[in-house]
Amino acid sequence: MPQILTLALAKGRILDETLPLLAAAGIHPSIDPDTSRQLILPTNHREIRLVVVRSSDVSTYVQYGGADLGVAGKDVLLEHGGEGLYEPLDLHIARCRLMLAKRIDADKIHGRLRIATKYANITRRYFATQGRQVEIIKLYGSMELAPLVGLADYIVDVVDTGNTLRANGLVPIEPPLAHSSARLVINRAAMKMKHAPIKALVHGLGKVVAARQGQPQLQRTSQQSWSISDA
Ligand code: ATP
Ligand code: PRP
Repeated sequence: MPQILTLALAKGRILDETLPLLAAAGIHPSIDPDTSRQLILPTNHREIRLVVVRSSDVSTYVQYGGADLGVAGKDVLLEHGGEGLYEPLDLHIARCRLMLAKRIDADKIHGRLRIATKYANITRRYFATQGRQVEIIKLYGSMELAPLVGLADYIVDVVDTGNTLRANGLVPIEPPLAHSSARLVINRAAMKMKHAPIKALVHGLGKVVAARQGQPQLQRTSQQSWSISDA
């Protein structure tokens, strides 16, 4: 009996950018995720299936074994906790920076800063290391609006081209709180119980990513129990 591998993908950008990587590794969903409402997508490999979940839920699915593997942004893993998960591969997609930003015309703020963000944990930790108290206003999207309507002094959000900040009269404040790209994460128990198929999948994806990056092989990292080059 082949062991079934379940791979959780965050809908949206991560799904869109991961499917070409999977395709290059020879894995294709049998159902079009853009048109289907089905949440479990079989693939051309009988033993590999995809599940499509919210970005912030990927680590939960993988942590509790609802999925054996997952793909999520590092920003989301830092915010929602990727503890206890193996993170063997940087897929080098969905690259962005997590940045503090303010109105271009903002006066200097004295005292406690009000920061609107969906990255409440990362933001709190960042300012705690600076010994600065902040008030976090939790939002779930359109963070750029908050300083424009007086809801907050600053935002913390992901920035890629900077177009969204510019379009809304905001400026980023260097340095970034974090750099992010999508990571493959793996459930620890699955890593033991389904080692051979997981190793094959990581190896296949690793080769695709390395080829895209123009690297012959991936390097071993401290979090890996084995690396692509071992395969
Ligand atoms: P949710 O709807 O669950 O809040 P989301 O809106 O953050 O998720 P996406 O916009 O698809 O979902 O972003 C998924 C991931 O892609 C983010 O976690 C981040 O790592 C990365 N990302 C977000 N915006 C950009 C961007 N403009 N450029 C590059 N990468 C981005
Ligand atoms: C993200 C993020 C920013 C924007 C930053 O939003 O919340 O608003 O992208 O990207 P930029 O620096 O390239 O402008 P979202 O994913 O909703 O926007 P998008 O679909 O336009 O990338």
